[in-house]
Amino acid sequence: MSQLSSRHLLGIKDLSAEDIQLILDTAENFKEVINRPIKKVPSLRDITIANVFFENSTRTRLSFELAEKRLSADVINFSSSNSSVKKGETLVDTVNNILSMKVDMVVMRHSSPGAPHFLARNVKANIVNAGDGTHEHPTQALLDAYSIREKLGSLEGKKVAIIGDILHSRVALSNIFCLQKMGAEVMVCGPITLIPKYIESLGVKVELDVKKALQWCDVANVLRIQLERQQIKYFPSLREYSLYYGINKKLLQQLDKEIVIMHPGPINRGVELSSDVADSNHAIILEQVQNGVAVRMAVLYLLAGAKN
Ligand code: CP
Repeated sequence: MSQLSSRHLLGIKDLSAEDIQLILDTAENFKEVINRPIKKVPSLRDITIANVFFENSTRTRLSFELAEKRLSADVINFSSSNSSVKKGETLVDTVNNILSMKVDMVVMRHSSPGAPHFLARNVKANIVNAGDGTHEHPTQALLDAYSIREKLGSLEGKKVAIIGDILHSRVALSNIFCLQKMGAEVMVCGPITLIPKYIESLGVKVELDVKKALQWCDVANVLRIQLERQQIKYFPSLREYSLYYGINKKLLQQLDKEIVIMHPGPINRGVELSSDVADSNHAIILEQVQNGVAVRMAVLYLLAGAKN
C-alpha cells in the first residue's frame, strides 16, 4: 500500500490500521531526512499549503510549518485573531478566498468539533485537522504512536494509560482510536468528573486510582487540565488535583518497573506533572515534539499523492 484511503485527514476514526502503518513508516524515512545536514527534499515543490488557525497553538502550528518547508511547499499562515473573521466573514468564505489564491491544501485548527469535516464537504482542497475543539487531534495521536513505537519497538500488546482531563481532550479520543487500531491496550484515568460517560463503550479500561494506572501501564500519556474549556468546577482546586492525580518522582519510584512518560504539551508544571518527572529520563516529551515534524511531513506528502 502506498496511498492513504482518504484525500483528507479529518480524524483517526476514519483511518485504517494500514493507513496508520503507512504514515508511521513514511515518517521514519522523513525522520532520517530531517536529521541530515541538508534537511529539505523537493517532494511538494509545486504545492501551496495554508495553515489556518482559529485557536492558539505553539507546537502544532510551528511543526506543520516546518514540515511544509522541509518538503519545499509554499506556505501561508492565517490566524483568525488578526483577520477579517473579526468583521464577520464565515469559515467557508474565509477558506474559499484563501483557496482562490491557488492554495492546494488547508491545515486547520478550530475550536468547534466537526469544523474540518464541514470544511471538507464545502471547499475543494485537501483538509488536515490540526485539532477540532474537544473532538480529535489526529496528527498528535500519530506522533504519539510513532514515539511509542520508536521507544518500545512496537505498539502491539503495549499498555497505555491516558491520565488527566479526558473529558475535554481531543488528544485522548484520537489516541484511543489510534492505539487500539495498532493493537495496544488503553486505560483512561482521572477524577470521575473528567471521564466521559460513554468512554467504556470504546473498549477502554477506566481506573480512578492513579497508582493502579501507573502500575498497570507501559506508557503514561499525561494530559493537561484544560481550564479554558471548563465552564464549571470538576474538582475542588488545582492543589487537590495535583495531590490525587499529579505524577511525581515519588509515585514513579514506588512502581516495580520503569514506565515511559508522555505529554502532548503545553504542560501545567506542578499540576498534572512535576518538573522532576517532566525533565527526567522517563519523559519523552521533547522527542514527541521532534517526531511531530516527521509525522506531519509524512501526512502532507501522502495526502498530496507526491512521489519521492
Ligand atoms: N500538543 C499541541 O497540540 O500543542 P499546541 O496546542 O501548542 O499546538
